[in-house]
Amino acid sequence: LDDLLSEGVKGRRVLLRADLNVPLDGDKITDDGRIRAVLPTLNALREAGARVTVVSHLGRPKGEPDPKYTLQPVANRLGELLGKPVAFATDTVGESARAAVAGLGDGDVALLENLRFNKGETSKDEAERGGFAAQLAEFADVYVDDAFGAVHRKHASVFDVAALLPRYTGGLVQRELDVLSKLTGDPERPYVVILGGSKVSDKLAVIEALLPKVDKLLIGGGMCFTFLKAQGHEVGKSLLQDEMVATCADLLARGGGKIVLPVDVVTADKFAADAKTQVVAADAIPAEELGLDIGPESVTLFAQAVESAKTVFWNGPMGVFELAPFAAGTRGVAEAITKIDGFSVVGGGDSAAAVRALGIPEDGFSHISTGGGASLEFLEGKALPGITALEA
Ligand code: 3PG
Repeated sequence: LDDLLSEGVKGRRVLLRADLNVPLDGDKITDDGRIRAVLPTLNALREAGARVTVVSHLGRPKGEPDPKYTLQPVANRLGELLGKPVAFATDTVGESARAAVAGLGDGDVALLENLRFNKGETSKDEAERGGFAAQLAEFADVYVDDAFGAVHRKHASVFDVAALLPRYTGGLVQRELDVLSKLTGDPERPYVVILGGSKVSDKLAVIEALLPKVDKLLIGGGMCFTFLKAQGHEVGKSLLQDEMVATCADLLARGGGKIVLPVDVVTADKFAADAKTQVVAADAIPAEELGLDIGPESVTLFAQAVESAKTVFWNGPMGVFELAPFAAGTRGVAEAITKIDGFSVVGGGDSAAAVRALGIPEDGFSHISTGGGASLEFLEGKALPGITALEA
């Protein structure tokens, strides 16, 4: 981005790929963190007089317009945050988009409708993706990628379009890469990783990659029950991935004591905010109950493991934090991380949303990533198509 700014961008048309995939409740944005994260890049471009066309995906529509996934609420919020209206195009590469782009003056911003309303965006067919990328490229003189959350996707707006225009790395993407590289390089020890979330299968690759590197790997969230089952415990009606039990047993055997599991859990008679709850030992979960959070002793255990860490990476809530009776585990672990005298990174997605939803000060962490899957794939050491395309 600095290169582009120093070349001069006044009057030039910039296609800015952002990740404005924010959580919504109806048409209400419940966490605008990803919109705020792109503001520095957007403001730098505007102040330099660029004519900026912002593009993003939202959710996973099926390649055609779907009102549930319109970016209109995002355009409104973006306008509020910028303190000036954002022209919103009701299509991505049609009449409305052409008019919005043509109407841009120096320093103006337009947002086009959801990229994924077009089959070409996510197509596996290169020609189809390329065709859509070419339509996007017509709107701009240069391309800036600031969508860190989407760099792991080989999509038209992330990968193919970068080959069609002069390409630049956005400030947010650069910052994310700089920070996350500290974790893949030689992190200061002790290095503690905390993983949560519902499925072991989603985290298996990152567990495999991190296990040799970390001093401790703490596991909470829905995925801990498959590990508890692998230890020979019954987990009642808790979330369980039967097909992963043997894999978890193998990881525990190979982990050499690095993997730490909850010692108690908060169980409930149903998945609801008004459920009857109890705290039980992790090896004594009643058959009719389901575990929805780690218990208080586990929070203490995890907090002790984190206390002396010099590097911490956390991804995935410890429980169903959206429901008050099951938020204490996530809150306790997050607060413990904010107290360390070291470098702490929150891997985006649900954990970043949890930090903000629980009102935990964001400046308590060294970095809150905007990438969920992207930050995990980066830590796995995978090549990220969006980055490869910028480097080509
Ligand atoms: C995310 O939320 O992780 C990114 O916006 C990517 O979304 P996707 O998983 O639907 O590609």
